[in-house]
Amino acid sequence: MTIDTPSSNQPWWRTAVIYQVYPRSFADANGDGMGDLRGVINHLPYLAELGVDALWLNPFYRSPQNDAGYDVADYDTVDPIFGSTADAEELIVAAHNLNLKVIFDIVPNHTSSEHAWFQQALTTAPGTGIWDRYHCVRGSGKNGTEPPNDWRSVFGGPAWTQIVNDADQEPTGWWYLHLFDATQPDVNWNSPAVRAEHERVLTYWFDRGVDGFRIDVAHGLVKTAGYPDSGEQERVLGIDDDVPVLPQWDQPGVHDVYRSWRQLADSYTPPRMFCGEVLVSTPEAHAQYLREDELHTAFNFHYLRTRWDAPHLKETIDHSLVTADSVGAPCTWVLSNHDVRRHVTRLAPRDENGGYDTGVGVQRARAASLIMLALPGSAYLYQGEELGLPEVLDLPDERRQDPVFIRTGGQSLGRDGCRVPLPWTSTGDTFGFSSGHASWLPQPDYFAELSVDAQDGDPDSTLEMYRRALALRAQSSAMHSPRMRWLDSGEDVIRFTRLGTRSIEVAANLGREDVIIPAAELLLGSSPTVTFGDSHITLPPNTAVWLTPR
Ligand code: NOJ
Repeated sequence: MTIDTPSSNQPWWRTAVIYQVYPRSFADANGDGMGDLRGVINHLPYLAELGVDALWLNPFYRSPQNDAGYDVADYDTVDPIFGSTADAEELIVAAHNLNLKVIFDIVPNHTSSEHAWFQQALTTAPGTGIWDRYHCVRGSGKNGTEPPNDWRSVFGGPAWTQIVNDADQEPTGWWYLHLFDATQPDVNWNSPAVRAEHERVLTYWFDRGVDGFRIDVAHGLVKTAGYPDSGEQERVLGIDDDVPVLPQWDQPGVHDVYRSWRQLADSYTPPRMFCGEVLVSTPEAHAQYLREDELHTAFNFHYLRTRWDAPHLKETIDHSLVTADSVGAPCTWVLSNHDVRRHVTRLAPRDENGGYDTGVGVQRARAASLIMLALPGSAYLYQGEELGLPEVLDLPDERRQDPVFIRTGGQSLGRDGCRVPLPWTSTGDTFGFSSGHASWLPQPDYFAELSVDAQDGDPDSTLEMYRRALALRAQSSAMHSPRMRWLDSGEDVIRFTRLGTRSIEVAANLGREDVIIPAAELLLGSSPTVTFGDSHITLPPNTAVWLTPR
């Protein structure tokens, strides 16, 4: 149904819906059990039909895959497990032909230890030559046998590894920093060579038509001079945790990097864009990255972390909009990605056995998605959320690959559970994910009924709800305006309007009792259990609707 026509005089990234493709788990065209770029190319029509504006692909560059590709050995080439550089180029063209923008992922905080720089550094005396591109620091204690400071790796354990002598494998008393896995040495952004190389890499892909980059660990590039102790206790930091203020994160010098990157992006026609993975302690600190000469957008993880609680959600939305607005930036809403528990499971109540009631979880997830897709700004969807996939919690230990699981000795399950390959069909060894017989992570049997095939054409399915929401959003000027207005509602209700040629009202019940709201024309509901009287609508718990005046 056509509602009205959105104006197109603002940059696309201010209101875009961007679909995150996790290439390992999206679609496997060559049958080796690992997703690949050809698999993505083959399914681009699915994304166009879903109605998203762009796709963001996680890293597929040459990598030993110790952190699923976030350990990059060569930023210019595609890892053979994903295909070839020609495939990446073909993907950009094919996506553009379907009116889809393409965002790649740049990993500037660290390289793989197999990167040519690190390999070359290992052949040089620590503290000399090319070691200046990494954080190579003399250890503390007698002969440097202790790490330089108390910093912890995000993945568990110390953030320093002692460098051994290349010739005799003896400890040198020098250490290199790795805020993630030991095979992901942090690069030193005080080095002009590091700055120049990353701008060269951005240019390399921009010249091939990439519309933008998601920036990995965007808040981490610059470390406090002198490497002071952080005082932090051992803990594994997740995106869904609060972020403490520490000397290894969110240092003022990082903003210079993005000012320079912004100039580079703006030098293209059309200008290219960035979306930062910015994990900082407050929305105010977050907004600093979004000043007009820095990044265009950054994921709003404060929103992702919000509980299923209407007052908390309202406060987070208001605070996010006000702080983003203070620097003229749009908000970038997100509920799931490859690092966090899928929101079907995260929002699910616990049952009496300590498990998750994912029946309620999926109702809440659908309602949460309708709220998110109606907020002013842009939104990211993570592959599989349009199918209502839950987190797979019971993967066998021996199949898990996440370094978080490995470095914590299994104390944290890590992130494999949200990375299980997508089910495309309700039958077959891998539910249509692979042209072969196995997938790199096993899929549970219940993926059959959640597959694309099983949901396609079923008006009550999660997939059809997303398709309808994205179509309505694309056709609505109200949904492209930068404003929303809260409407009167009870404590447990989210209710707001988006004003436009034809306004859209959004209402969601986050409480435990039915909620009555004034009648209007239904555009879309998260559940068939919503009921309509002449003068009112009844919203059962965990449901949301999009309405328009009659
Ligand atoms: C954030 C990425 O999203 C995550 O998957 C990765 O492990 C770390 N950065 C390190 O690159």
